Amino acid sequence: MSDMSALERWLVTSPFRAWLQRGEVRAFLRWASLPSGACVLDMGCGPGVSTALIRELLRPRCLSAFDIDPSMVELARRRLARLGLDDGVDLRVADATKMPYEDGLFDAVFESGVVHHVPDWRAALREVGRVLKPGGRFCFAEPSRGRLRGLFRILPHSVESMFDADEWRAALADAGLQAEETPRRLPLWDICGVATKTHEA
Ligand SMILES: C[S@@+](CC[C@H](N)C(=O)[O-])C[C@H]1O[C@@H](n2cnc3c(N)ncnc32)[C@H](O)[C@@H]1O
Repeated sequence: MSDMSALERWLVTSPFRAWLQRGEVRAFLRWASLPSGACVLDMGCGPGVSTALIRELLRPRCLSAFDIDPSMVELARRRLARLGLDDGVDLRVADATKMPYEDGLFDAVFESGVVHHVPDWRAALREVGRVLKPGGRFCFAEPSRGRLRGLFRILPHSVESMFDADEWRAALADAGLQAEETPRRLPLWDICGVATKTHEA
């Protein structure tokens, strides 16, 4: 189960978060520059705002999404159905450290604000590397340890799941993911960008 507090859960399911996510998903789609026939994974999809946006804006050949919290997956399921975007979307309850997908399945994995909730966050990054095709793109947005102790301090997080930009980049490399040098910016997150799968971890 997720370690999110009631306050964070309220924020994650708020219209403000949905509004911010529109910009994030658009940025991910620009950064990843995927063809419309791509297969995409939305990791830690929360209430499914990002899943619906990926489906609407990219129209991928296949779209999978998962979250460890069954109530979030249920919200995502209802959102997609309400918007008529549920056709062919594979939604599951699953743990980022044990993804229920075969190796090399996806052209892209997108995630916002998920990995810093996972105590064994390096294992989650290894799973991203495993499920991506060679050359596949990982688009991420995370708060650094500094941000979790500063701007985000009202939202409690476990110390094990905190990292800084250098630790993040090193863990990406260990997972077979090469981070791009191009600096990327998003509101809220101070570790964001794209990494490409270069080799098996
Ligand atoms: C801060 S919310 C972000 C949700 C959504 N991605 C967004 O951008 O609004 C973190 C999400 O990660 C999920 N999560 C936490 N640990 C997870 C894990 N080990 N595996 C999968 N999802 C996890 C939580 O249930 C929650 O929905």
